Amino acid sequence: MAGEKNVETTGLLGWIDARFPLTSTWKAHLSEYYAPKNFNFWYFFGSLALLVLVIQIVTGIFLVMHYKPDAERAFQSVEYIMREVPWGWLVRYMHSTGASMFFVVVYLHMLRGLFYGSYRKPRELVWIFGVAIFLCLMAEAFMGYLLPWGQMSYWGAQVIVNLFSAIPFVGPDLALLIRGDYVVSDATLNRFFSFHVIAVPLVLLGLVVAHIIALHEVGSNNPDGVEIKANKDANGIPLDGIPFHPYYSVHDLFGVAIFLMIFSAIVFFAPEMGGYFLEYNNFIPADPLKTPPHIAPVWYFTPFYSMLRACTDDFTWVLAIIAALAAIAFFVKGRMAFTVRVTVAVVLLAVAVLLRVWDAKFWGVLTMGGAVVILFFLPWLDHSPVKSIRYRPGWHKWLYGVFIVNFLVLGYLGTQAPNDVFNLMSQIGTIIYLGFFMLMPFWSRCGKFKPVPERVTFSAH
Ligand code: HEM
Repeated sequence: MAGEKNVETTGLLGWIDARFPLTSTWKAHLSEYYAPKNFNFWYFFGSLALLVLVIQIVTGIFLVMHYKPDAERAFQSVEYIMREVPWGWLVRYMHSTGASMFFVVVYLHMLRGLFYGSYRKPRELVWIFGVAIFLCLMAEAFMGYLLPWGQMSYWGAQVIVNLFSAIPFVGPDLALLIRGDYVVSDATLNRFFSFHVIAVPLVLLGLVVAHIIALHEVGSNNPDGVEIKANKDANGIPLDGIPFHPYYSVHDLFGVAIFLMIFSAIVFFAPEMGGYFLEYNNFIPADPLKTPPHIAPVWYFTPFYSMLRACTDDFTWVLAIIAALAAIAFFVKGRMAFTVRVTVAVVLLAVAVLLRVWDAKFWGVLTMGGAVVILFFLPWLDHSPVKSIRYRPGWHKWLYGVFIVNFLVLGYLGTQAPNDVFNLMSQIGTIIYLGFFMLMPFWSRCGKFKPVPERVTFSAH
């Protein structure tokens, strides 16, 4: 309202401010949003994720103008976009490259959160919204991949939707509901199209807004994991904070420039990226009568796909033994009340039994889903006395290193045709991935931690 602090009273801006919180929003989220002055390279990826989101929406709008969501015409319409529509090839390559780059940027963004403990109190909701975004992104990419109606689109969807039928009791009906038919067909294409162009993007946008509102409520973390709000000047401004605009808006523009160079290089010179961004089999129209010899999802799903494939019948024995041992350890060593120890031990024993009763395929689905869902619990799994990796014991850094390499190896294995050695490696990798998180409450508090400084450490270059 006119006359209030933060608000213009004259001119066009005054007229708008009396009716809409334009200046106050600008100030609260940009020119008077104080961000820690020690942001580094890792802090580029949030704004880059926003950029890729915009690229995907804008290019998506133009693709929909020419694309036909019809099993008889979809593949041809994509070829038409590539060959006949003016600049169609550019729009399509920007969209397909954007999908992969979205995951590159988001994986690096999540890794930053892991390094600096950005998921810890008071940023638990920022993280939870983030993981929900990640789930939406996976759904969005999976459904978008069916639309070109190539061999990999078709068979990838067939394999993944069939997985749902492994869920006990409701599985087959659920798979039928998702497909809208007994096999992937025109009905599937239509519903995936509808979800891909409107339903999921709406949820995604809503979650991104919630993610940023939650972040601005508590303020950004930083590479030192020091709360800048703990040290304020007489005006209530954090001593180690600088206004987001112009300092970080300019800083982020530099990141955008570098990113666009890499993005353009891929779009113009290597849009297929050796078959990783656009799989070669997808240049062949979908044929429900001809299964390709090797079906693999796009690279960003392959670490999770490896975990799915790792769950063979033999492997459920290993998991059952681990669950049984955990039950005994919890009962004997647990520090909780007796009733809690008994309950957890009984649940773990029940899991151990069910691992041998229910189909291994179902446990594969559960492992794959669990590998993402476990991220929601990260704020409560990490019991380390410090947030940032900078002040953790040296061997924690090695553990993070093993986790990252393991994730990359799982990713590679997921792109390859299975064999005995690769299966064993995937199984070990799955145990490392899940063990990293499940044992975090124990290992995260062990070791010698370095003292955390009162103020952020920063030296201007
Ligand atoms: C569409 C996807 C996403 C967008 C557009 C987005 C956007 C942003 C932006 C603009 C920031 C502030 C700048 C920065 O700190 O880099 C941020 C911070 C953050 N994001 Fe995301 N994000 C996305 C996905 C995710 C995901 C998948 C996660 C985790 C699972 C996540 C976790 C976080 C955390 C913990 C912070 C606070 C970091 C800190 O203060 O140190 N975000 N995000």
